[in-house]
Amino acid sequence: MAKKPEPGMTVALDVGTSRVRALVGQWIPGGLLEILSVSSKPCTGLRRGAVIDIDATVQAISGAVAEAEAMADCEIHSAYVSISGTHIQSLNSNGVVAVRDNEVRRDDVDKVLEAAKAVAVPAKQVLHASPQEFILDGQDGIRDPTGMCGVRLEAKVHIVTGNISAAQNLRRCVEHANLAVDQIILSHVAAAEAVLTEDERELGVCLVDIGAGITDLILYKDGAIRHTASIPVAGYLVTNDIAITLRTPPQHAEELKLRYGSAAPDLVATDESIVVPDLADRPGRQVQHRQLAQIIEPRYEELLDLVFAEAAHADLLKGLTAGIVLTGGGAKMDGVVGLAERRFHFPVRLGTPLQTTGLHEVAQDPGLATIVGLAMVGRRAMEEAATEASKPGAGLFHRVRGWFLGSA
Ligand SMILES: Nc1ncnc2c1ncn2[C@@H]1O[C@H](COP(=O)(O)OP(=O)(O)OP(=O)(O)O)[C@@H](O)[C@H]1O
Ligand SMILES: [Mg+2]
Repeated sequence: MAKKPEPGMTVALDVGTSRVRALVGQWIPGGLLEILSVSSKPCTGLRRGAVIDIDATVQAISGAVAEAEAMADCEIHSAYVSISGTHIQSLNSNGVVAVRDNEVRRDDVDKVLEAAKAVAVPAKQVLHASPQEFILDGQDGIRDPTGMCGVRLEAKVHIVTGNISAAQNLRRCVEHANLAVDQIILSHVAAAEAVLTEDERELGVCLVDIGAGITDLILYKDGAIRHTASIPVAGYLVTNDIAITLRTPPQHAEELKLRYGSAAPDLVATDESIVVPDLADRPGRQVQHRQLAQIIEPRYEELLDLVFAEAAHADLLKGLTAGIVLTGGGAKMDGVVGLAERRFHFPVRLGTPLQTTGLHEVAQDPGLATIVGLAMVGRRAMEEAATEASKPGAGLFHRVRGWFLGSA
């Protein structure tokens, strides 16, 4: 009989456009996440990150969860769940309060954060909110003002909103698969938690998670989130370009992409050819291998240019000292790191999950960044909730995170 989940176990569910993934992790001394199981099932129920078919999504969730339960030999009752999609929007907001008694207390911090968060966006809900800095009587750059002296407290906060209905549909799918939702977590934040270092966040970095339907980007500077966005250009469009240009069914286009794909045509030999299956059982055709890369490269260029435009629009290009980190399944494309380096003139690296142990393949797979990060964010939320329960007001971090705990 399967065991009940033990204390310290975290379950994560990444409901992605191409696959639903489930992960069971256990925290071990030293702050490492031991991966006990990770499973995935193809999913046709999402389009560009949002649910369009509840039954198909529920089926994929149930399949992935059953497999993760069997591998970890435990029963799964609830999970931390990712959300993304083109409905995601972000903004930076300010709040101001007068400090009572000339000393900043927990209440003042709560109030100024609430004031910053009070932005009315029709049919949207706050999916994530995190402070960038506090300003006390004109002194900026304060990370936690609790206990400091002053009379005027200001907070700058990064807020991410999403469609209420998108979060509701996601929640419904998870619940129909007989799971409770511990928390809905922005997938950008989850991926960042798994693959970025503290130093990168301080120096300034842009994480680009290239999925199947959506590319999520999140920019950090001075340890805080400065901008987030979701772009509807990702792996499926690359596959679609191959299918259309080479006149081959999408499943064959996907196979060709995974097997022979490259975003660096100049590095592909001109004298090699590949066999491309034709439509309607007509015999396959020989196509120059380099031609495949010539189809792939422009779509990745377009994607990287859109990322560049987002960073420029947010006025953050000069701040990206630590450069770009590429993650997600689409970042596994051969040659994409070099292409991004040439395009951005920044250092670029591939982001794989850090701080994990157990299944060693997890640490090498950029496609698992979001699911691993979900477990990490979820675990932190659990710990902070426990600290808050035993020592109310112990940390600012928990209160801020509490804004989005269960809010979706
Ligand atoms: N080795 C590889 N080379 C190139 N592309 C790859 C490779 N492996 C996976 N991909 C592509 O990555 C995409 C899937 O990435 P990922 O699993 O991160 O997406 P997802 O989470 O399901 O979707 P989304 O995040 O958009 O909702 C697919 O388009 C797939 O073709
Ligand atoms: Mg994804």
